[in-house]
Order: sequence, then C-alpha cells, then structure tokens
Amino acid sequence: MTNERNRGLLFGEKLLSEIRDKFYFVDVDGDGSKRLFFENAGGSLRLKSVIDISNELNKYPDCFARDHKSSLILHQYEIQGKEDVRTLLNAKDGAIATSLTASSIMFEMIGPMVAYGNGTNIVTTEIEHPSAYDSCKYYARKYNKELRVAQSDRQTGGLRPEDVLNLIDKETLLLNVIISSNMTGANIDLKTICTEARLINPDIFIVTDAVQHAPHGLIDVNDLKVDGLNIAPYKFYGNRGIAFAYISERVKNLPHHRILEDSTDLWELGSIVPAHYGAISKIVEYISWIGSNYTDSKNKRTLVEEGMKRIRLQEQALLYRLLHGSEKIQGLLSMNGVDTFFDYTDLDNRDLILAMKLDNLGCFETVREYEKRGIIVYERVSSSIYSKRIIESFGLNGIVRVSPLHCNTVDEIDQFLRVTQKILISIK
Ligand SMILES: Cc1ncc(COP(=O)(O)O)c(C=O)c1O
Repeated sequence: MTNERNRGLLFGEKLLSEIRDKFYFVDVDGDGSKRLFFENAGGSLRLKSVIDISNELNKYPDCFARDHKSSLILHQYEIQGKEDVRTLLNAKDGAIATSLTASSIMFEMIGPMVAYGNGTNIVTTEIEHPSAYDSCKYYARKYNKELRVAQSDRQTGGLRPEDVLNLIDKETLLLNVIISSNMTGANIDLKTICTEARLINPDIFIVTDAVQHAPHGLIDVNDLKVDGLNIAPYKFYGNRGIAFAYISERVKNLPHHRILEDSTDLWELGSIVPAHYGAISKIVEYISWIGSNYTDSKNKRTLVEEGMKRIRLQEQALLYRLLHGSEKIQGLLSMNGVDTFFDYTDLDNRDLILAMKLDNLGCFETVREYEKRGIIVYERVSSSIYSKRIIESFGLNGIVRVSPLHCNTVDEIDQFLRVTQKILISIK
C-alpha cells in the first residue's frame, strides 16, 4: 500500500531550476552531448561552488599552519570547515577525523576500538561495504575476536533489527552497521539497533558507514549516539580525495595513529588541504540554502535539517515516479520484463537508489544499452569483490543500480522509463 505521505513532494519549478544551475553536468556530459547521470551512488554530480572554492584555495602555496596573511585565511577555512562538518552531522562532542578515503578512515576508526574495547566478539552485517566488513574481519583476526555476521533481509534489501540484535551479547565489543544499503537504497533502523544493542551491552562501540546515505537523508550522531560515522564528499555533491568521520567522546582519546607530541584527540595525520574544508563548507551552505527556501530560521543546523528534509521529499517523489510512472507512462513496478526485486511499499525508508534487472538481458549488457541511449547507470554483480557478498546475500547474481539525484526532474525520470521500454522492445 502506498499513501500520500510516502509519495514525497517535488521542489517548486523555480527552485528546481536554481538547484540545477548549481551543479555541473546535470543533463550533459563533459563534451556537451546530452546525457543523464543516474550513477550518483558511484560518485555524485558536483556543485559548481565546490569546484570554484577548490580551484581558488588550491592556488595558494601557503602552509595553513603559519602566521602570515594567506596562511591565516587558509586556516580559517579549516576552522569553518570543521565546524560545518559538526553542524552537518550534529556532532556536539568528540572529534572530527579526516583521511584520504572513506575506506581508510573506517580502518582507522575500528582499529583502536577493537584494540581497547572489552569483549570477545564483533558483530557486522552481510550488506556492509568491504571497507567496513574487512576492517571488522582484519581486526577480529588481529586481536583474536569472533566475527559474527548478521544476514540481510531479502524482502527489503536491508536488515531486520532482530537479525542484528540476536547476535549481540555482553561480550560484543563492537557493532558495525551501515545506515542504508549502497546497493538497494534500503534504510536501516539504526536508532532501534543502537538503543537495543546498548541495553544488551552498555559499553558496546557502534560504528556506522553513512557514505551512501549522506546525500539522501539527515544524519544526527547526537541522536544515534554512535562512536564512529564516516562520510565521503565525492558521493555528496563534492570532490574525491577526502573523507570525514565523527569519533565519539569516549573513543577520541584512545591510542590511534597520530603525531604523538600533538593533542591526544587529533585524528588528522599530516598537512591538511584547506580546499577540502572550503569544499565541505560549500556543501553545507548549499543544503542550508535549500532549507532557507522553506524556513526563516537563521540557525545553521535547523537550515540543514530543513534542507535535507526537502531533498529527501523531492527524491521520494522521483522514486515514486520511477516505480509507479504516471497515466502516460508505465513505472518499473508494472513494466513487463523488469524485475525490481525488493518491496517498495514503504518509501519513507528508502534512499533514491534502485536495484533492477531486465529479464532477458545481462546486467553489463543492460548498462551498455542505457549508455547508447544517453543514460549512465551501473551494474553491481557478483564477479566484483565490491558487490559479491552483498548481492549474493539477496540470492542474486547481479543488479543494475539506478541512482539519480534530487536535482533531477520528473521528465528525466520519464525519459529513463521510455528508454527502458525501448530497450525491452529491442531485446524481445
Ligand atoms: C557505502 C560505502 N561505504 C564506503 C565506500 C568507500 O568509499 P571509498 O572508495 O571512497 O573509500 C563506498 C564507496 O563506494 C560506499 O558506497
């Protein structure tokens, strides 16, 4: 059953047009040819403001840790960027860590927790990205802990909280659960899992991967009370080359890789890149700007909350259209020859990432057919080490992942549906 609430709400035309103008390559490729980029889960469309500030700040030779004029300017970007990451995640305590990639920051976070936590087992899940799963596995081996793996939910493409909680006991030192699946878009009920896990073991460390969810929904570490959470700006309207993480108050001083004479809660190793901080500030500014179209509040967190809420509603409306189509065009759910695998009755708990497959065409070939017709999507198949465990946990060999963004229009979704119909006809 679908209801009005989970049909989402589109941006007004004027606002959507302003939003689209803020991104590069919304409906064209780099060479100017027409193209739709529905592969944001692999790296998202980028904000022009991010590229501008990055180019600007990267011009400076100055080290941010000096006292002359340009250094002080660069240093100010770092301070502001860190504050903006805190606003984005609602991090009121703890530390903000950085690293080159989301994968490396996951290993950096999990290592000290396993080394210094009390307990004999670690719980992770079948649907984790390899960076989180393998961090757990690596440190379980290193410190002689048992690794327990919660099964995926084949109905939703996510996880049932009870399947995770059943594995936790008083000896569980670390729990690792992703916020939403990067293959299926299913949101995980992390709040319930965190709350119940702490009732079983109040000292448990909880780490979550928010890389894929961050561009689609609000993050609140203060509410979740997790010990570690990572995001990657390149999946979040920004650049490759940096990942940020929140590290909780009780974890921030655990021994970790750092310059030993520097402060014990510093989770940055070496010279920082001011451009990355300027860029994350632009992402937060953008979300706040969307929020400012709906609220008069001047409070930055309130603006972020409102902005993410509106992004989510727009994406929900696009997902609804993708699934249900309109009077003029069939949606994927009712298109003969298309398999959508999972249950889409509850769109409140889904990000704008859809797993599908054409009945009579392989995933790789399907992706090529879309590309020929000007649409970029991506196959996630069991021959890839990044997909195998996750995809097979759903009893599948592969899916085609379709991941538009809030800056897409209903017309573009319809274009995707029309192209899907054309491909189906061509392979009959
Ligand atoms: C959910 C999730 N976590 C972590 C990562 C790792 O990101 P990176 O390759 O930048 O380390 C990805 C990348 O695809 C991802 O989708």
